[in-house]
Amino acid sequence: MTSWLIKGVRPYGEEPVDLLLSGGVIAEVGSGVSAAGAQRLDADGLVALPGLVDLHTHLREPGREDAETVLTGTRAAALGGYTAVFAMANTDPVADTAGVVEQVWRLGREAGLADVFPVGAVTVGLVGQRLAELGAMADSAAGVRVFSDDGRCVADPALMRRALEYVKAFDGVIAQHAEEPRLTEGAQLNEGVWSARLGLAGWPAAAEEAIIARDALLAGHVGSRLHVCHVSTAGSVEILRWARSKGFRVTAEVTPHHLLLTDELAAGYDPVYKVNPPLRTEADTAALRAALAEGVIDCVATDHAPHALEDKETEWAVARPGMLGLETALSVVVQTMLQPGLLGWRGIADRMSAAPARIGSAGGHGHDLAVGQPATLVLVDPEARWTVDPGRSASRSRNTPFAGRELPARVIATFLRGVPTVLDGKAQR
Ligand code: DOR
Ligand code: ZN
Repeated sequence: MTSWLIKGVRPYGEEPVDLLLSGGVIAEVGSGVSAAGAQRLDADGLVALPGLVDLHTHLREPGREDAETVLTGTRAAALGGYTAVFAMANTDPVADTAGVVEQVWRLGREAGLADVFPVGAVTVGLVGQRLAELGAMADSAAGVRVFSDDGRCVADPALMRRALEYVKAFDGVIAQHAEEPRLTEGAQLNEGVWSARLGLAGWPAAAEEAIIARDALLAGHVGSRLHVCHVSTAGSVEILRWARSKGFRVTAEVTPHHLLLTDELAAGYDPVYKVNPPLRTEADTAALRAALAEGVIDCVATDHAPHALEDKETEWAVARPGMLGLETALSVVVQTMLQPGLLGWRGIADRMSAAPARIGSAGGHGHDLAVGQPATLVLVDPEARWTVDPGRSASRSRNTPFAGRELPARVIATFLRGVPTVLDGKAQR
């Protein structure tokens, strides 16, 4: 295995040092480090962060390999600086058995571009009727710790309570897609000025907030762990703050698109802006940014949701909700959080690596850049600017809402246990 000597890199944007990666770990940190036989990488001006961890990725395999595969999705992940992704369970077949989660886990290992942690479904077939084999998925080779019916809400409160009770035994977590389905029937866009103007059925903030409040109470009652997916409203932030103040074990994520984009983008009826939960208002994005800075929202998760052309480039009402996110996430976080001074590089490392690794129990990820830790890290050019071109995405799909936008910061290299998955901005497989 090749050793790598990374010269003059700035860990967390701080003072330049040399990093020696050897035997899969960070073997040395210091100045003037030399190592015979090591590959040398000049990293002047680059920032080093621990490899990013995405708690919320749709890889679409098995079932929709025309939209994404484990290989193409993890290639996009590596290019975005990710070394671990949690693969959502809404595949076909649904990841609701030990067999399916082991299959996804194995495909991840074969691809070798990022560690794939399969998420198990909470209910059989995601239909919200019976609990899936949570214990068998936890005990499988995939070692599942995160369970979610994402795409759908576990709407039945008794079932949600039982799921929370069940996973407590192995310190698992239920990741809830918070959306009261009775309040969003036919909904197309955030309920507000723009849904009224455009004549699209509205999606009320209360549909999200009601479920978060309910589930926070259930998590508190049971003493178990709840994670709230893709928080999108200012009201949700208030409820999360309250749940924390009660000592409930509730964590939450926000997507890059909910930090940056707002519902008025729907004005042109371009379905690339259709997503679940919907884009909200400027006041919501401001509250989400502040909550991420404060830590009331623990982490950033992409909700990378690739869709085939025929499912996306159609009229708004029938288009599938969802957006690509893996290759643009870090840049959007730099723009929305670092540039305005809401987070520094250490804060970004926490919100995009340490916190999601902790929430998802992703062993070998989210550690500090220190001697003896896994050589799992990303090198970023903080001064670069680039224009998003969907045609150049590594994803099988093209549904990025950032097409044509100029974004700051670019991933130059990604290392997974000392092995480069990206070098010079290019995927290594
Ligand atoms: O926009 C979304 N797309 N939200 C979800 O919750 C599911 C996802 C998907 O699977 O496409
Ligand atoms: Zn969701």
